[in-house]
Amino acid sequence: MTSAELSQTGRYPAGSLAFPHRGLLGLAGLAPHELLFLLDEAEQWVELNRQPQKRADRLAGLTIINAFFENSTRTLLSFEIAGKRLGADVVNMAVAQSSVKKGETLIDTAMTLNAMRADAIVIRHGSSGAVRLIADKVDCPVLNAGDGQHEHPTQGLLDALTIRQALFDKRKGEFNGLIVTICGDILHSRVARSNIHCLTTLGAEVRVCAPPALMPAGIEQMKVTPYHDFDKALAGADVVMMLRLQQERMEGQFIPSPREYRHLYGLTLHRLALAKPDALVMHPGPMNRGVEIDSNVADLAGRSMITRQVEMGVAMRMACLEVLTRKARGVEGWA
Ligand code: NCD
Repeated sequence: MTSAELSQTGRYPAGSLAFPHRGLLGLAGLAPHELLFLLDEAEQWVELNRQPQKRADRLAGLTIINAFFENSTRTLLSFEIAGKRLGADVVNMAVAQSSVKKGETLIDTAMTLNAMRADAIVIRHGSSGAVRLIADKVDCPVLNAGDGQHEHPTQGLLDALTIRQALFDKRKGEFNGLIVTICGDILHSRVARSNIHCLTTLGAEVRVCAPPALMPAGIEQMKVTPYHDFDKALAGADVVMMLRLQQERMEGQFIPSPREYRHLYGLTLHRLALAKPDALVMHPGPMNRGVEIDSNVADLAGRSMITRQVEMGVAMRMACLEVLTRKARGVEGWA
């Protein structure tokens, strides 16, 4: 069954079987119906967030801890707003002032957070796998808000939601056959990884494009087609997703110069014309205007989805928090 049929007719198994996982550490290995369930759950929150009164009290009395060991603007704010809109008490752990700086181990931090009886913990960490390490030590659901180069599952989901909302009225619900080109620093990008898992599972054709030094070896095993020539990767694309050069994760020189990079891999209006006429432009932020994307593309009305992605981010995180705390709240069917 195609993803669209599953979503529209077959639906998903009832209750806890619709999303049987304790936490959300990554999108790798999730079934199409599990991804679609989360996307469908987010729709009600998109609606709520467009009302003047944006408050639901589903999570009233619950405590959510946001533990961000790495800098973040939109993801931290998005999770904080999501938790508060659902009525939860949201606490942000300021790592700069925490005992982490005094040398406390990750396991000790995890045990401390656990003793505070949080109902969900949202974690961002610079090391791939660190979020799983904490998740194994705590009793509540853990949501990965980005771990090193590994995964950023809510970003993958919010991007899929953005694509679905923007294209599917026209395309009648089909991820199947959709061509998505992801271009930039694929090597260091957890956003690329989560998007690849999500979109290929839902049936899209994913192309990844990067200079040779920024393309992970063996990427074909993720069911994507690698390109080094951006013009070729753009031909006929429905969605063009641009990524920042993650300088902070690079040791040494990966690209000749920003100018050279823009010349070969920057999304200009001229290049965008190689994609489908109504192709969507996406970027998870933060953007480096004039490097991977020109300002007149980033701000292109009707085509650029960059602020829409931020909007979908809040709704998607509300859905994830609500679904993952169902067991704690004793919601029927969640054994
Ligand atoms: C991304 C991240 O932190 O992984 N940003 C985000 O969450 N919106 C991408 C990036 O930092 O380039």
